[in-house]
Amino acid sequence: MSDATPILHMLAPQKHMSPFDVNMAADAGYKVIIPYINVELSEVTGLIQDAIFSRPPNYGVRTGFFMGGKDAILALDMLEAAKKAMVPPFECSCLADPAGSFTTAAAMVACVEKVLKEKFGRTWKGTKVAVFGATGVVGFASSIISALEGAQVKLVAHRGIDRVIKNAKISKERFGVDLEPVAGETDDQKNEIIANAEVIFAAAAAGVRVVSKEQMQKAKNLLVMADVNAVPPPGVEGMELFMNGEKLPESDALGVGPLAIGDIKYKCESGLFKQMIDSDKPLSLDFRHAYELSKKLVGLA
Ligand SMILES: NC(=O)c1ccc[n+]([C@@H]2O[C@H](COP(=O)([O-])OP(=O)(O)OC[C@H]3O[C@@H](n4cnc5c(N)ncnc54)[C@H](OP(=O)(O)O)[C@@H]3O)[C@@H](O)[C@H]2O)c1
Repeated sequence: MSDATPILHMLAPQKHMSPFDVNMAADAGYKVIIPYINVELSEVTGLIQDAIFSRPPNYGVRTGFFMGGKDAILALDMLEAAKKAMVPPFECSCLADPAGSFTTAAAMVACVEKVLKEKFGRTWKGTKVAVFGATGVVGFASSIISALEGAQVKLVAHRGIDRVIKNAKISKERFGVDLEPVAGETDDQKNEIIANAEVIFAAAAAGVRVVSKEQMQKAKNLLVMADVNAVPPPGVEGMELFMNGEKLPESDALGVGPLAIGDIKYKCESGLFKQMIDSDKPLSLDFRHAYELSKKLVGLA
């Protein structure tokens, strides 16, 4: 392994780089961390090439780029642009994790998968999933990860179905997965979605309740509900912060709470930064690598 100083260039398309991600990178071992804000996709090639030619190739692997922001597709486009900008043997490592969404979604999918396997002998294959907060970055990434594993995923729209239709179309084009957009604006629509789901991912905005105890009492197919929202009230009524496969009150379903997910998310993001620092080869990491590592972290791989 090279003894070059680990340097991380952190790119944000908006006006702040997330302090959470800066802290995670420092605690994982990066010694020099430089945030860049208001970065446009067209600027990524120039920034990568400016960095890679300044260090000999064996130092290049200790140079990292992080793609942040709040837009999953833009972060993936930036990662792709970075890959194309490499001039072997002058290369560096890159990680995309916009708003922490790839590592959060990967952690949620892996935590639920463990409960499905251990408590129900099930995998994702054919499992019916309903995603609340499907237009958000965490909802979007968790839909794709679970669908790639064979789940039948519904993207629930809470105001206007057009944006979830757009997400389903993008997911088909980019990842080859079929996601079903469904309207979830009225109580009747939500009741029906919840009644037919086996797994629920509650990934709506912080402090927003998406599943009530009345709704879950009527839902007889529910196996597991996961909630990433740690700000009261919980996204799923009765969810406790550290639940990890325990029965939810008022329902036969099992719960996976935000801090059980957060623990794996934290270890996953830290682990991906460490992989970049320790690797002898340049890496390009996205939600697929986050999911692979999360499965190991929960003991599934
Ligand atoms: N536990 C962890 O480790 C962890 C880590 C990161 C994030 N989080 C949490 O994950 C959640 C999602 O984060 P994010 O970054 O993906 O947020 P985001 O991009 O802002 O997305 C929020 C989603 O919630 C939806 N929403 C807003 N109000 C709603 C309502 N009243 N009913 C139903 N849906 C509603 C939004 O829909 P519209 O687009 O229509 O507004 C959007 O789909 C947040 O609660 C965040 O705190 C947890």
